[in-house]
Amino acid sequence: MTQTTFTPRVFSGIQPSGGLTLGNYLGAIKRFVDMQGPDFETVYCMVDLHAITVWQNPADLIHNTRELCAGFIASGIDPAKSILINQSQVPEHAQLGWVFNCVARMGWMQRMTQFKDKAGKNAQNASLGLFGYPALMAADILVYHATHVPVGEDQKQHLELTRDIAAKFNHDYGVDFFPMTEPVIEGAATRVMSLRDGTKKMSKSDPSDASRINMTDDADAIARKIRKAKTDPDALPSEAKGLEDRPEARNLINIYAALSDQTVDQVLAEVGGKQFGAFKPMLAELAVAKLGPISAEMARLMDEPDEIDRILTAGSLRAREITAPILRKTYDIVGMVAPV
Ligand code: AMP
Ligand code: TRP
Repeated sequence: MTQTTFTPRVFSGIQPSGGLTLGNYLGAIKRFVDMQGPDFETVYCMVDLHAITVWQNPADLIHNTRELCAGFIASGIDPAKSILINQSQVPEHAQLGWVFNCVARMGWMQRMTQFKDKAGKNAQNASLGLFGYPALMAADILVYHATHVPVGEDQKQHLELTRDIAAKFNHDYGVDFFPMTEPVIEGAATRVMSLRDGTKKMSKSDPSDASRINMTDDADAIARKIRKAKTDPDALPSEAKGLEDRPEARNLINIYAALSDQTVDQVLAEVGGKQFGAFKPMLAELAVAKLGPISAEMARLMDEPDEIDRILTAGSLRAREITAPILRKTYDIVGMVAPV
């Protein structure tokens, strides 16, 4: 079979389930911004259909979808350069998701750690959508024939499953139709940890607000949370090796490196030997300088929800020019009678 070449295209998504954290910003959104440019066509999505795999209050879901869109734009995603959409306005995502429900195997889904974490002890009471979540995620990506997907470390397993689904579809139907998507899990902050416990991921669902920096936190809150962040009594090392077995120290250095666009080694060359008492104010100042303008711009955009809705509508029209032909071709391959 001849090898198909695919247009370089980036797709990624975030759930509008309320509250963006520094983890979302450094692990995902900042890197979405970096990938805009001549090398790729870029599509960024608020995955509202994924959000309802767990209960969402409808009014909150609308608010959170607009706020996420505002967060994207305030961080530097330019609607003129990237296609910005909410998932439910591009029906081909859910349509291809159904086909993939019929490609993916129960056994594959049962191995997904995110399902196990989210369903918890009461898996019998979890929604069927939560179980099938990764097949819809594969459809999000493959309905664009996306070649690259920037995400944080926690999404790695889902992207492996996306490749498994693409490979099984191509194999079962004897085609070379879906690309083997590359995960892009790069930078100093692919896994930002809790400020209270350096072994736990920073998450919007952590009950302790002090564990995370929210993108809407003001300068005082950011400075206070960093000042109170858990650390150890030792001075900072001069080389990355010295951060092994010091998860809290490593986390704060990773955050500093990612926020300042430096490597960990560059940061340690500057701050090695300092005590946390001296380093934390530097980190707080940097975080406020980077996040302050973003949260101010988010608030400004949220005053114009109609403008956000217009951007999402325009994005979905552009998106469907890509997704409708790919879905139709999929249906043709599978053997669905087409309209005449
Ligand atoms: P979610 O908020 O779970 O929809 O995640 C959206 C994106 O942010 C995904 O690419 C995640 O991998 C990324 N992300 C979420 N939390 C973190 C974190 N603590 N560190 C790095 N990336 C994260
Ligand atoms: N599962 C991702 C998360 O929880 C969100 C997501 C849905 C996504 N569809 C995607 C990420 C497609 C990348 C590509 O963070």
